[in-house]
Amino acid sequence: MLQDIERVLISEEEIKKRTRELGAQISKDYEGKELVVIGILKGASLFTSDLFRSITIPAELDFMRISSYGASTKSTGVHRVLLDLDYTLDGRHVLIVEDIVDTGLTIKFLLEYLGQRGPSSLKVATLLDKPTRRKVDVPIHYRGFEVPDEFVCGCGLDYAEKYRNLRDIVILKPEVYSGK
Ligand code: IMP
Repeated sequence: MLQDIERVLISEEEIKKRTRELGAQISKDYEGKELVVIGILKGASLFTSDLFRSITIPAELDFMRISSYGASTKSTGVHRVLLDLDYTLDGRHVLIVEDIVDTGLTIKFLLEYLGQRGPSSLKVATLLDKPTRRKVDVPIHYRGFEVPDEFVCGCGLDYAEKYRNLRDIVILKPEVYSGK
């Protein structure tokens, strides 16, 4: 796995530090409120767990899973809910946690989908933001890092279901994608 890495874009230490900062900011912003944190599987599972432990106010944790790219690196914009919440969000303060906002189509879908369940507020946190690829305008309230227009892996992000367990955010060697 390590031999497939071209270079490290963001180190584990930088990710830890930024996650703690975001957790502190979220705890301050939602002071006196109760928060529902919804991580989007599978990519955001690791970042969500770390961010959740950095939040110091009362908070609930849940996960949703929606259809994603599969083994391809292109977004289709077609979404299917594979794992849903089994309760309403009436009057709740909800924070969606993503691994990366790329075209923005997934977050747009989630904001509309969860917005129909009556939350008091609905915000977005993402570890990574790739703004040059955006197809739709979406709000990002808590952003870990901006990344260039390159496919990245690690810290929960995969290529063909692999590399999620890399501790840094990395760029893989081109031959990994071409299958050579
Ligand atoms: P969007 O709907 O195009 O914003 O894509 C969001 C999803 O695409 C993320 O949750 C990831 O699962 C996946 N994705 C987008 N860019 C990358 C990348 O560079 N590496 C790994 N997954 C990515």
